[in-house]
Amino acid sequence: MSGDRPRVWVSQPLFDDIVGQLAAHCDVNAATAVRQYDAAAIAAALRGADGALVTLNERIGADELAGAPRLRAVANVGVGYNNLDIAALDARGVIATNTPDVLTETTADLGFALLMAAARRITESERWLREGRWGQWSFSTMLGADIHGSTLGILGMGRIGQGIARRGHHGFGMDVLYHNRSRLPAGVERETGARCVDFDALLARADHLVLVLPYSQASHHIIDAAALAKMKPTATLVNIARGGLVDELALADALANGRLAAAGLDVYEGEPDVRPELLALRNVVLTPHIGSASLATRRAMVQLAVDNLLAALGFGPQAGHPPTPVTARTTAKAATADITGAVKTANGKR
Ligand code: GLV
Repeated sequence: MSGDRPRVWVSQPLFDDIVGQLAAHCDVNAATAVRQYDAAAIAAALRGADGALVTLNERIGADELAGAPRLRAVANVGVGYNNLDIAALDARGVIATNTPDVLTETTADLGFALLMAAARRITESERWLREGRWGQWSFSTMLGADIHGSTLGILGMGRIGQGIARRGHHGFGMDVLYHNRSRLPAGVERETGARCVDFDALLARADHLVLVLPYSQASHHIIDAAALAKMKPTATLVNIARGGLVDELALADALANGRLAAAGLDVYEGEPDVRPELLALRNVVLTPHIGSASLATRRAMVQLAVDNLLAALGFGPQAGHPPTPVTARTTAKAATADITGAVKTANGKR
């Protein structure tokens, strides 16, 4: 340990060989077991730290930062960064970074897997079979909804949304609709086969609706009872973004009462707790926030976060220029592009 080496906190066990790269330049305080932190524990971990490598579990805002005068950089291992108060970090001159791009295709794969599992009742069928309830093959067992040739709706057409659109258009011949405040360039629309529609039209026309927009106050419960009522009762809803986008009680009610056919959820408002109302339903597929969880992608995310942190602290080939910074300005831009528009349209304000 040397006095002038930066100190970094790594909040969860990640990949030792990759996190170990930090030790070439920094003194590393890395968690050795998965754990949950309250605000006081995060504040304590940040006290005296120059940098932090954190996951979506760790919320960092003004209170956690108050006792951390040395902190210069927070590298989030994840593309979503609603766990970070970017304005508070910015106000203290702390650089924040995330891990876009490297997880796009893996997360789009999971979105599609959930869509197919929910619409074709895969996990429900398997549970039924394992319970010994398959007495005889029957024509009407587990009738579901087609994927091919159906209408795919995508709310939030960033990189992951575009990945899902490509899969639907090129792989399954789907008619792809999206809603985003800003229309995508014509070339991207052509390549993804996607057409821009307003929020209400997206809800009304989608046979399968996938949520891929960032979570913020503006997008909180964008799928509420009123939105669900505009969807087809035969439709599937998939959420791979953040739990807070959906009013889960309204969703459970719609699923229980035949106002929505099925749902596939990877994210939850109170995760890791999942509402009993959802757990009780047969027509919802539930996965534990594994959107980017392939080994290769999780390694790439950690590598990008380490590269970001080292660069933000002034080391390595990109010293001073972390590859994927997040700033208040980019956050505001993303909100304008992806969320505010959707909400304003949903509220009929534009
Ligand atoms: C996971 O949810 C992420 O934001 O990367």
